[in-house]
Amino acid sequence: MIILSDGKYHSGEDLGKELGISRSAVWKQVKKISALGVLLESKKGCGYRISGGLELLDSGLIQQQLSVAVKPLLSNMQILSTVSSTNMLARQHAEQGNASGWVVLAEEQTNGRGRRGKSWVSPYGCNLYLSLVWGFDGGVKEIEGLSLAVAVVVLRGLRLSGVEGLSLKWPNDLLYQNKKIGGILLEVVGDPSGYCQVVIGVGININMSEQPSRSIGQAWGNVGELSDSKIGRNQLAGVMIDQLLLLLSKYKKIGFVGYKEEWLQHDTFMDKRVKLLMMNNSVEGIVRGIDDSGALILEVDGAVKIFSGGEISLRGFE
Ligand code: BTN
Repeated sequence: MIILSDGKYHSGEDLGKELGISRSAVWKQVKKISALGVLLESKKGCGYRISGGLELLDSGLIQQQLSVAVKPLLSNMQILSTVSSTNMLARQHAEQGNASGWVVLAEEQTNGRGRRGKSWVSPYGCNLYLSLVWGFDGGVKEIEGLSLAVAVVVLRGLRLSGVEGLSLKWPNDLLYQNKKIGGILLEVVGDPSGYCQVVIGVGININMSEQPSRSIGQAWGNVGELSDSKIGRNQLAGVMIDQLLLLLSKYKKIGFVGYKEEWLQHDTFMDKRVKLLMMNNSVEGIVRGIDDSGALILEVDGAVKIFSGGEISLRGFE
């Protein structure tokens, strides 16, 4: 895969020589790469190439993006080729008592998880899938609003990487012109009133092709198409980790109020009519903002109501 990541043609013979395998073994490898969803072209007389190349994750390149203040906050970083879900793995590590600043990234997830029990389409080598563990000793009240604050810093990280014009949908979807380009999944392990650890999972679509995305049941986009220059996966991963660790290191002190205004500036649905989908029912109303804990303020039949909790989803009307 590394040889083909340059985007150039390599003949079967050359690949065989470089890898020390027969041409039929090369062909088997080529089949395996295609099965991962990577767009592999073959041309008579030229060989094989990955159209557009692939930038595989690289720990050194990612860590280059970390600021001096943040570097000591990263306790461990794992990069995996394939994993069921980076959040699932991070949860397991959190349950074993691993410390704050434990980060995992993967080229592909075979069982990527989204909010509300949905799956997160996670093909090989084209997007960003990362999870991070952080501990809070004052229980879940210390992480009130954190999932919205994470959305704010992910948005900041994308802006630093040249992606403008993004907006937010409560609680933490990242959108470009109503197309979802990224999502955030927070999970908490430990004691809700004492020491607990939060797993923050971030997924960003960078260069996903149509084929693997067929099962996504909503409009989606790629941030790779929103920037004038090519977005590097390692650069973006590094900037995201930098932003997240910085946020987490000061969240206990400043809390969600430090991020509320910026969240509101990017709110897609302010003063618009929406439908809230809950576990067993739904409610329609007009969005009137969010409160200091990140809960949604909705005007329902003239009365103001507050909605919080992770299992609610919001839909707009055309
Ligand atoms: C959403 O539904 O909007 C949340 C999507 C979160 C996806 C990310 S990808 C990395 C991490 N691992 C997972 O299994 N899910 C999160």
